[in-house]
Amino acid sequence: MVDTPHKSRQCFVLGIETSCDETAVAVVDQRKKILAHKILSQIDDHAEYGGVVPEIAARQHISNLDNLIEQTLSDANMAIHDLSAIAATTGPGLVGGLMVGVMTAKAIAAAANKPFIAINHLEGHALTPRLVEDIAFPYLLLLMSGGHCQILMARGVGDYTRLGSTIDDAAGEAFDKTAKLLGLPYPGGPAVEKAARNGNPQRFPLPTPLLGKPGCDFSFSGLKTAVRRTAEACVTERGSLFVDDRADICAAFQTAIGRCIEDRLQRGITIFREEAGETRLPLVVAGGVAANQYLRGVIEGVATNNNMSFHAPPLALCTDNGAMIAWAGMERFLDNPHIDDHDVSPRPRWPLDGEAKPKIGSGRKGTKA
Ligand code: KG4
Ligand code: ZN
Repeated sequence: MVDTPHKSRQCFVLGIETSCDETAVAVVDQRKKILAHKILSQIDDHAEYGGVVPEIAARQHISNLDNLIEQTLSDANMAIHDLSAIAATTGPGLVGGLMVGVMTAKAIAAAANKPFIAINHLEGHALTPRLVEDIAFPYLLLLMSGGHCQILMARGVGDYTRLGSTIDDAAGEAFDKTAKLLGLPYPGGPAVEKAARNGNPQRFPLPTPLLGKPGCDFSFSGLKTAVRRTAEACVTERGSLFVDDRADICAAFQTAIGRCIEDRLQRGITIFREEAGETRLPLVVAGGVAANQYLRGVIEGVATNNNMSFHAPPLALCTDNGAMIAWAGMERFLDNPHIDDHDVSPRPRWPLDGEAKPKIGSGRKGTKA
């Protein structure tokens, strides 16, 4: 028999994240303390390709994960038998990396006779704000990462309703592609944000797709095309893309994204209020793009205008990390005896709202949606 969850005793969950290009491990307790956390970023390994190479990512996870777990447990001054459960990202993500994390977690769980908990990476982002603050359900969640851009009603652990999603590129993907087009480094989000700080957002008019349209969906691919055309026009006019051109394009791009988010969120808030029957509800933002200070400001403004409280994780917990997976594991471990058995397999596609239909077809775009 494996240990069963018990709210009155101290619980510790080990979380493992390997869904993309970060190998990350953490231990959290049920009082929201992060006892130890470690992240090994593979940015340098993928930089020359301008994006994540799945094969390289999986190999790096294999090389690094065991050591990282050992170091994390040592930092937490714990041994495997002190843990209450082992949680690992089981999807969505790159299947090679997911397999490394899931197999490792299952092996530890089996050897130590502990529960294994399969975590949806998106739920890891969605619950992170509850790791740092006491935020009660329901809340309106804007989840913006490299692969997703969604507005969701979070009603409880495992209980999400998607109100809107991207019909093409995710927000982080738009930042990354814009950076690549402008010759800025990968990952693009932080580079575009930095360049935008010195830019004039008025110089180039960029489109704001779906602004004013019904629903809460997003679309960013047209914006990316407009960035490309604007950059090409600069080169034609001035012979090269200069630092001020880049800064102005980045500022215009970020402002356009902010305007889209404002518009879409406002619609989401209206639906959320109708459904939840309350007005003063929390507005929560999560995912890598939530690290963007300008966009955080825009979203906080939307919350203030709507008399909602605003919540965003600290920057280090916005981008992928082990604590978000450990915490999602803890929420599941404590809240509900939802302990997965070892038959669970990695799921490259795994929507948070199981009822939601893909926006476009069933292929790559469909998954993102
Ligand atoms: O959540 P995350 O770490 O990984 C996924 O689950 O995808 O998100 C990564 C994404 C990347 O596209 C990255 O460019 C973006 O988040 N990002 C940012 C910033 N920091 C990371 N985007 C805009 N501004 C930032 N400061
Ligand atoms: Zn993520």
